[in-house]
Amino acid sequence: MTSLLFLANTPVPRDLTLPLPLPEGLLKTLLVVFFLIHILFVNLTVGGSLLIAIFEFLGFKNKKYDALALEIAKTVTVNKSLAVVMGIGPLLCINLVYTVQWYGANALTGHAWLLIIPLIIAAFLLAYLHKYTWHRWETRIAKRFHWGLVITSTLLFLAIPFVFLANVNLMLFPSEWEKVKGFFSSLKVGNVFPRYFHFLLASLALTGLAGAGWFWRRIVVDHLDNGMSREELRRLFYQIAALATGLQFIAGPLLLFTLPAVGVTPLLYKIILPSAALGLVLFIVLLKKAKGPEENLGYGYIRLCMFFSVVVLGMGSGRHAYREASLATHQQQVRERTTNYQNALTAWNEANPPSEEAEETPEQLFATCAACHAPDSKLVGPPLREIAAIYAENPDGIVTWAMAPGKKRPDFPPMPPFSHLGPDKLRVIAEYILATAPK
Ligand code: HEC
Repeated sequence: MTSLLFLANTPVPRDLTLPLPLPEGLLKTLLVVFFLIHILFVNLTVGGSLLIAIFEFLGFKNKKYDALALEIAKTVTVNKSLAVVMGIGPLLCINLVYTVQWYGANALTGHAWLLIIPLIIAAFLLAYLHKYTWHRWETRIAKRFHWGLVITSTLLFLAIPFVFLANVNLMLFPSEWEKVKGFFSSLKVGNVFPRYFHFLLASLALTGLAGAGWFWRRIVVDHLDNGMSREELRRLFYQIAALATGLQFIAGPLLLFTLPAVGVTPLLYKIILPSAALGLVLFIVLLKKAKGPEENLGYGYIRLCMFFSVVVLGMGSGRHAYREASLATHQQQVRERTTNYQNALTAWNEANPPSEEAEETPEQLFATCAACHAPDSKLVGPPLREIAAIYAENPDGIVTWAMAPGKKRPDFPPMPPFSHLGPDKLRVIAEYILATAPK
């Protein structure tokens, strides 16, 4: 028993000993793939919201930016829905593979974590309200108010990934958990802020690249009809992508060098550094497109996207490698603790074999008799008051009777024998009757 208590008091939790529904390696691959799909739409939602806020503001002076902002707003509501739906996959995978670590981080950031639900609802409703009131609130004052809507929804769209990120970050450092008291103190663990900065820039870069493709389509440009040519639009979005990608060369190293050493391995560098090198090439190509002659804008978009995907896949894999390395010790400790617990449990069960039948209380045993014997009234048999009067100080007399009842009272039917209960149990019943019968 002491060993079980000892196991319950150690800070490392035990895992569930249930088998995984799929091989662990497959689940981890699915986690990375599902996560990348999810984060793609998250990036487009966050980047899109930021661009709407900026372009609608520029639109106060120049109408063409206002029209552009509306066109982006139409895509953001779609992307945010996809982001949420596609978020289910990684959540399920992470729950299965990192159950203990994920639960630990969720529980520690409790209120903020739950706050995500109302925040998402509010951000959704505001984003739709903003989109549908575009042409209704046209006066100067109304337009400022309308802009306030997108600022609010953008702030919400910025806050939600921040909470997620704090959680995902906290999960990586179980050794710090004991210091954490709620969301704000969790921000001191690991390197939440460089990660967030990196994420924001990735959102802008991806949205820039997506915009360069979306606003190249004639049908979109014709519909937009704001006086901007395809080339002008593509160049603008390439500029955004190039700027954000360039700034990643500040954010990236900042992130890498502020990572707590626990998960930094040679493997991480082997993945991140080549990806960063490709990122540099990507940056140069984007810059050339953004600054170069107009005829360069017409080709190479698909190749750029593929390039971008390789960089993103590299970064995503690096992120996974860091998580694996950072959690290795903790997972090992959890495994050991689970094994120890199971061994202790088996040993305890062997030392304390369960008795044949569970021990019954006197009251439960008497239930056999209660159908015919009530304390003070005549049922099928005489009341307990009468029995107790006959057998006061003589419980063995009741035992003898119940083992083989005679025929005593002419106005009563015969009582069935209870020899199958055995004298020990009948003795318990007899004492219970004598103790509880009304005098
Ligand atoms: C199916 C109904 C029934 C059940 C169940 C039953 N009894 Fe009885 N009991 C009777 C009847 C009827 C009498 C009266 C028999 C007689 O006087 O001939 C009686 C009488 C008795 C008496 C009085 C004997 C005496 O000397 O006057 C005792 C003591 C007694 N029962 C104990 C028990 C105990 C203990 C149990 C439970 C283990 C029990 N009974 C369960 C029907 C029952």
